[in-house]
Amino acid sequence: MRKIAVFTSGGDAPGMNACIRAVVRSGSHYGMQVMGIKRGYTGLIEGDIIEMDARSVGNIVQRGGTILMSSRSQEFRTEEGRAKAFENIKKHNIDGLVAIGGNGTFAGALQFYTEYEIPVIGIPGTIDNDLSGTDFTIGFDTALNTVVDAMDKIRDTAESHNRVFFMEVMGRDSGLIALYSGIAGGAESIMIPEMDDDILNLTKTLNKALIRKKSSLIVMVAEGDEAGGAFEIAKKVESEFDELDCRVVVLGHVQRGGAPSCNDRVLGTRLGIGAVEGLLRGKTNVMAGIVHNKIEYTPFSETIDNSHKINQDLFKIIDLMAH
Ligand code: F6P
Repeated sequence: MRKIAVFTSGGDAPGMNACIRAVVRSGSHYGMQVMGIKRGYTGLIEGDIIEMDARSVGNIVQRGGTILMSSRSQEFRTEEGRAKAFENIKKHNIDGLVAIGGNGTFAGALQFYTEYEIPVIGIPGTIDNDLSGTDFTIGFDTALNTVVDAMDKIRDTAESHNRVFFMEVMGRDSGLIALYSGIAGGAESIMIPEMDDDILNLTKTLNKALIRKKSSLIVMVAEGDEAGGAFEIAKKVESEFDELDCRVVVLGHVQRGGAPSCNDRVLGTRLGIGAVEGLLRGKTNVMAGIVHNKIEYTPFSETIDNSHKINQDLFKIIDLMAH
């Protein structure tokens, strides 16, 4: 393994730069040449590949986004696209890949390995935290801090006006951002795709809150909730509860930006080194993750198939703390 290439793919996540830096510097430490593929699979198909060295990743550990940029490539889903990508791998004599991203990235890497047998190790980089084989993904902690900061501000105005706020956060298929921020920011209720009877639960919570004379409420809504987005849910609630004054906040992509938290910098750095060392030990088709504070390698198929289940104990906390 003399020459490896690193890329970021899918939604960017704070801490990806710390991870790129760790791949490049640990790769150099082990005597490898490290290339950077720009714009994920799109850059691999188009041959947008640059040389990197220890100096080219200076002063990025604290920066959000990804210096290599990212994409959600449709072309890589086609055989022709992957064939072009393989041509560029051969042209640059690349012996192994480090793919930083989420489940779409790993599904692509798995398909590519099946066809061309290029050793590849994945690193979990997504704010959603929806991968098995790691306790946390890079970017989740920073996104949570962004959400909780917004919640604290919303709480001030909610209290002042006796209002109910519906805050929509990211997570098409995963409610983990809503769940963790809900606990940390003291939300009265959460609505997430993993649970079916959210509207029913919400109605119960609102009735209880009215009896308890709570002055303000925050309901966290994961964008993928089956009851609809925050606007739709707020409309339903307003039609049922005349006495409630509702407002909606959709946080959107603000959750993906900002300087990475200390946890995400450390996680990105550890996983970057873990991926390089894994490749050197002949591992492929696996994701480097951290489980119980130790690096572990989990086959891509398992990380994708069995996304993080909702911990029922955490879910119950929301209700308990809403008293
Ligand atoms: O995968 C991370 C994520 O931020 C999801 O939470 C969100 O649903 C999605 O990306 C948004 O993707 P895009 O930036 O392509 O609109």
